Amino acid sequence: MTNNSFEANARDNKTRAYDDCWLRLDGIKDSSFQKNYRRCLESVYCKADTRLAKTALNELLSGLTRLTGSSPKVVDDPESSCIILSILAFDKEIDSALATNEIAKLQPEGFLIKAVKDNKGSKIYITAKTDKGLLYGVFRFLLYLDQQKEIGKLHLLENPKNPIRMINQWDNLDGSIERGYAGRSIFYQNNILTTDMARVKYYARMLASVGINAIAINNVNAHKEETRLIADKIHMVKEINDIFRDYGIRVFLSINYASPIDIGGLSSADPLDDEVAKWWVDRVAYIYKNIPDFGGFLVKADSENRPGPFTYNRNHAEGANMLAAALKPYGGLLIWRCFVYNCQQDWRDLTIDRAKAAYENYHYLDGSFADNVILQIKNGPMDFQVREPVSPLIGTMERTNQMLELQITQEYTGQQRHLCYLVPQWKEILDFDTRAKGQGYPVKKLVNGSTFPMKHCGITAVSNIGTDYNWTGHYLAQANLYGYGRLTWDPDLATETITEEWIISTFGPKQELIDTISKMLISSWPIYENYTSPLGIGWMVNPDHHYGPSVDGYEYSKWGTYHRADFKAIGVDRTVAKGTGFTRQYRKDNYLMFENIETCPEELILFFHRLPYTYRLKSGKTIIQHIYDTHFEGVDQAIRLKEQWEKLNGMIDEKRFSHVLDRLKQQIDHAKEWRDVINSYFYRKTGICDIHSRKIY
Ligand code: GCU
Repeated sequence: MTNNSFEANARDNKTRAYDDCWLRLDGIKDSSFQKNYRRCLESVYCKADTRLAKTALNELLSGLTRLTGSSPKVVDDPESSCIILSILAFDKEIDSALATNEIAKLQPEGFLIKAVKDNKGSKIYITAKTDKGLLYGVFRFLLYLDQQKEIGKLHLLENPKNPIRMINQWDNLDGSIERGYAGRSIFYQNNILTTDMARVKYYARMLASVGINAIAINNVNAHKEETRLIADKIHMVKEINDIFRDYGIRVFLSINYASPIDIGGLSSADPLDDEVAKWWVDRVAYIYKNIPDFGGFLVKADSENRPGPFTYNRNHAEGANMLAAALKPYGGLLIWRCFVYNCQQDWRDLTIDRAKAAYENYHYLDGSFADNVILQIKNGPMDFQVREPVSPLIGTMERTNQMLELQITQEYTGQQRHLCYLVPQWKEILDFDTRAKGQGYPVKKLVNGSTFPMKHCGITAVSNIGTDYNWTGHYLAQANLYGYGRLTWDPDLATETITEEWIISTFGPKQELIDTISKMLISSWPIYENYTSPLGIGWMVNPDHHYGPSVDGYEYSKWGTYHRADFKAIGVDRTVAKGTGFTRQYRKDNYLMFENIETCPEELILFFHRLPYTYRLKSGKTIIQHIYDTHFEGVDQAIRLKEQWEKLNGMIDEKRFSHVLDRLKQQIDHAKEWRDVINSYFYRKTGICDIHSRKIY
């Protein structure tokens, strides 16, 4: 061991302006484990020398140093090494130590980690078909060791289940972050790069450690300064790309559809205008000249007042294909968002329904997009509410590349001041059976391209990080970023498994910590749902910043998103029989399930049906009583979250302990506000009393 490197690590940690998150790698505190581990991990052999292989080796060396307290030796002879890092077919003799049937199962980004015993002793092989797979294998290995698991029988063969595993930064060049709740941008300030690129590198490590392989580095709303990223500010992209490249992450830019006008001096951005198309061809050539491995563009067009092809009476296939053609020669991708709706819907027109918009704008175009276009579809038909049904576009388009868009940043789920662990929500979304070809076609099997063939597909999500010391505003919101990465790698992982992994890597392996924090995390989304908007109705938030209760906030704004609560009934009738007909956008079995009030899942009942407050739910409670009960219960549960955390006093360092405690206290106060605003609104609207006579204002 070099004491020096250990001390250097410690020093680095002290001076660093950010938390280690799940890469602390200090899990092996127990000395018998340390001794045992150290013996099996004291030397490493690695012949591969690509950039990514070097990253993998460096990560392995520094990770093992942190874990065992001693730096492993790098050796030239595989025979004498404890750990062998190898890229298959590069190191033929090493391949022969591994079973060919296993090697055959490996896909390009997968890895095999295996402890092999022979007459000369035992060795651990970390092997992959590509250097990228090798990097994922190294991180998996380190995080596995951090869990204090047995290494003697180590045997993991994993392939990622989604080809694209992406993050969308909603960072603006001035350093602000749209819907950011954890400080400023780690990338930009005052329209230039920040001075702390080491932090960007740490972020790249964190993302790669959970298998993320793509990132869009600026807000989907690309304004004046961001438009210049494809022109005179390209050096900023290049610098960021240089960092992410070493971690196997492809960099994308969100672009402004009107760039040819805004920076190109043209009078139009019409996708069918030859001059416009030529302008983009030249722009793209310029980008690839600077950044040959550039990923491509992400586009928000004709959405929330952003420019797009509708201005020129062109549809979105015409709009996207023109850009895709420019990217195609370089292997670039064009990711096109489906978040397109009329945000000025007239409240008098009961037939228009925002929920129907994505399907109406895209479904008829199935099959007409170029093969390097991917449609990015938000998980629900509205906008990242606490609970929404799955978007009907997923599972009904058969000839179009698709990606699921989730939101890690907690825009509508407590803005990282409330605890709201989203892995259970994402699991529900991924497991929802789209009935694409009958029973058994959940969302996760659509977006991974296994139901309908797709050339490019996967999952993306809006990031939740910023310059706060803890990255995510709330320490426990780090679990959402970790969990998102793990789920994109393998949507079949159990919530409990992901949660436990994260807790151990973040807080250590003490059973009481694991039990308590798991319970808190896993219960937090239903708790948040309880004291906010009930039964799938959504919205009831203050317009604009979206924090805190305002039942009629959107109801009477011009934005056109309604719950239509009056004194008799609440909810939007989206049935074919009596309502907007949204239900018909689903495959038949799901259409019938949502259409029929008896089979519609109750947690979504007000999303699909308009019901009187006296309607009885399956629990026997009326809707109004359900609203009262869940709101009182939600506050009690928030109080219990704090009590559970308080029991961990002394088991967690003071900094993190008191930070979380403080957030949990704020959560209680704010949950009370939600409870009181919602309950008194509905009490006064309906005049119906709480059967338990609790205090409602
Ligand atoms: C929501 C969010 C916006 C964001 C938009 C989008 O409406 O409030 O800030 O720009 O989604 O996804 O494009």
